[in-house]
Amino acid sequence: VEENKMIVPENFEEMLSTLPKEKSWGAGGCFYKYQGFWYSSVWLLGTIWAQQCFKARDTDFLLASSPKSGTTWMKALMIAIVNRKHHGSLSSSSHPLLIKNPHNCVPFLEVRDQEHMIGSNPITYLDSLPAASPRLLSTHIPYSSLPKSVLAGRIVYIARNPKDVFVSFWKFSEQFASKNNQKLQKSPSISMEEAFELFCNGVSTNGPFWDHVLGYWKASMERPDEVLFVKYEDMKRDTMHHVKKLAEFIGHPFSSEEEREGVLQAVIELCSFENLSNLEVNKSGTFQVHVASQTGQNQLLVDNSAFFRRGEVGDSKNHLTPEMLERLDKITQEKLGTFGLEL
Ligand code: A3P
Repeated sequence: VEENKMIVPENFEEMLSTLPKEKSWGAGGCFYKYQGFWYSSVWLLGTIWAQQCFKARDTDFLLASSPKSGTTWMKALMIAIVNRKHHGSLSSSSHPLLIKNPHNCVPFLEVRDQEHMIGSNPITYLDSLPAASPRLLSTHIPYSSLPKSVLAGRIVYIARNPKDVFVSFWKFSEQFASKNNQKLQKSPSISMEEAFELFCNGVSTNGPFWDHVLGYWKASMERPDEVLFVKYEDMKRDTMHHVKKLAEFIGHPFSSEEEREGVLQAVIELCSFENLSNLEVNKSGTFQVHVASQTGQNQLLVDNSAFFRRGEVGDSKNHLTPEMLERLDKITQEKLGTFGLEL
């Protein structure tokens, strides 16, 4: 595959300097506001790349989410559903989920990981995938900023209650910062209270959180056959129902025979928090994000284990004060209530 020439838009640094800027929490450096949403420079660069170069195919399935909403779980489920007939059995040692972290099975549009690199242009790898097989892809890009060609395609969105999203991100960012301290432009340390204030004001990775959710919610109302909107909490409460729905949506429905034989149950168990978090690859491996910059390639590292913390609904109660919880509930009600969406 010939590598596409564009690596970093020449004027990227210049462009950054013209964008509204905010103190970042979690991602290092600062957040930049682009098309109404906040990004770290790495994810912004990737987003612009994707907007310029990514060409969707009719057969693609895109998993979209705000970070920390259950992306890892959904990636695992999609892979397990699509691959359930190829690997003999779900517990076969060659099953991708037993060898790789779910993020190394389903690539992001906007950043490259160690499994999905060809050269330094992030799109080159995606273009190289065989045309015959449907691509499972993922993104944190807000609906309104998606590459144009994606807009006609099929999308699964996973949404989660913002109180748990905030806590999940805060915990993740502590881990991320300790692992990448030297590589990131050191951002001034920030307290959880300060991060909370920023989150409430919409300043978070790919935030405002509520606008992110709303973009996809509205799309799912307008195009229900193409955009499936799922809530993390519903997935936890009635996993079987929602996994069946997901399988139908991505064109791999479970037959009644498979259900009788326990295949649906096996997929759910394979992708459960308990199972995935105890796999060797997820206990000890590292997820590498490859970042192109004007000074060459750089790598950001995340322990695979950081994608599996508690996996429960309502853990925010153990970390936020009653006032904080109430404040987030109020914002959510104000922003989403009129659209008939509860989180
Ligand atoms: P907590 O931090 O609340 O535990 P993302 O995958 O979008 O980064 O979201 C991470 C969150 O999903 C974390 O939440 C993580 O523990 C949870 N998670 C990861 N795998 C899961 C699974 N198989 N089932 C349920 N939750 C899972």
